[in-house]
Amino acid sequence: MESKAHILVFPFPAQGHINPILQFSKRLASKGLKITLITTTSISHSLHLQTPAGGAALQFESISDGLDGGDHSDNIHTHLDRFIATVSQNLAQLAVKLRPNAVVYDAIMPWCLDVARGLGLRAAAFFTQMCGVSMVYYHQYEGNLKVDGENCRFSMPAMPVMEIGDLPSLIPDGHLYPAFLRLMVDQFSNFREADWRLLNTFDKLEEEVLNWMASQWPIKTVGPTVPSMYLDKQLEDDKDYGVNLFQPSAEVCMKWLDTKEKASVVYASFGSLATVGESQMEELAWGLKNSDKNFLWIVRASEESKLPRNFISETSEKGLVVNWCPQLQVLSHHAVGCFMTHCGWNSTLEALSLGVPMVAMPVWTDQTTNAKYIVDVWHTGVRVKVNERGIITREETELRIKEVMEGERGNELRRNAVRWKELAKEAVRKGGSSDKNIEEFVAELVCT
Ligand code: UDX
Repeated sequence: MESKAHILVFPFPAQGHINPILQFSKRLASKGLKITLITTTSISHSLHLQTPAGGAALQFESISDGLDGGDHSDNIHTHLDRFIATVSQNLAQLAVKLRPNAVVYDAIMPWCLDVARGLGLRAAAFFTQMCGVSMVYYHQYEGNLKVDGENCRFSMPAMPVMEIGDLPSLIPDGHLYPAFLRLMVDQFSNFREADWRLLNTFDKLEEEVLNWMASQWPIKTVGPTVPSMYLDKQLEDDKDYGVNLFQPSAEVCMKWLDTKEKASVVYASFGSLATVGESQMEELAWGLKNSDKNFLWIVRASEESKLPRNFISETSEKGLVVNWCPQLQVLSHHAVGCFMTHCGWNSTLEALSLGVPMVAMPVWTDQTTNAKYIVDVWHTGVRVKVNERGIITREETELRIKEVMEGERGNELRRNAVRWKELAKEAVRKGGSSDKNIEEFVAELVCT
């Protein structure tokens, strides 16, 4: 459908939020909308911008978030408050200048709805995380989730019974990260008033909880927001998200993978934010080595000093360690046999969409709940056990890698993963559930 409708799209400035919202923007652009994607100045110095496929229709604007330069010594609450105040004002000014028809905002910035309403604009809240995770935060917001010493099993509508370690970690650990918990729970302060609620998931993946959610409020599933080349081959050159906050070692990784046999490599990554302690890093390192598999391990530059001494030289025959890679290209390479992951929602969706079984090593936030679903609902991975000292030992790491890479259990996980890959493709292909929802969203934007 051809249209001149102009949409401002605003992800929270973190890799795990930019990727899905940028990818959704490309889908809107491919359906004829004009899109301006907004980034904020404190991350703009580290943006590696490729021209995304379908990029002709995408424009980028940067607004100040008040965190670029100046005093950074204050705490996260002050940062967040300053971020909200500055960005609200600058977003409003940009919207006045660009005169868009509507705003798509990251649901964890609910105050964007107030900005849109102040200018008489319609607005869609985009939930980047798993619907199941969003619903846990919703029940917390409503005061229906009682986390106390007595309660160790949690039942919520249309979701599997969860133990404390399956809840998003910010709920039991909220006292440690109150600002982050507030960010997540406050998504539900005004979400009913948004004109649309868009979810980065697909109908078959979270059928029960989505049905429950849809019985309460209108929603539209629009995921998985994975570049089209991996799902429906709409755009052959759409193989990356298009914006990286870290510089990927693309050539090195892909050449190295080309030398390896089919399904012989463990790909290990903990995403863009998670950190692990030095002794944990050491256990992971020797676990990877002792598994005797090839491995490609992403260790961000800020984590590199935690690697055991001589690890890289001692493992160079079987292992490659780099700071960042083109993850989608890596996951879709025939040499990759398993993904040892922190279970960030994008990584989880990517593994499901590309049919790769997982060793789930959740670190914090939504990752614990994503891991619960990977193991008990989608049956595409195994979860590592943490010992009484809070450590995943090298023996445990080795054992779980072998469980996924070898034997009948590994084959079963791989078969399940391939089934989800087919269902993900079905959702985004022309006429699929997510494609229909995007078409409907575009029609509603254009016609009303
Ligand atoms: C954060 C949270 O940690 C996550 O739990 C939440 O769901 C989203 O926000 P992050 O930790 O970065 O995200 O993890 P994830 O959601 O997996 O996103 C990482 C993205 O970076 C993925 O799209 C992945 O493809 C990409 N990536 C990662 C690379 O391109 N190269 C890499 O080397 C590693």
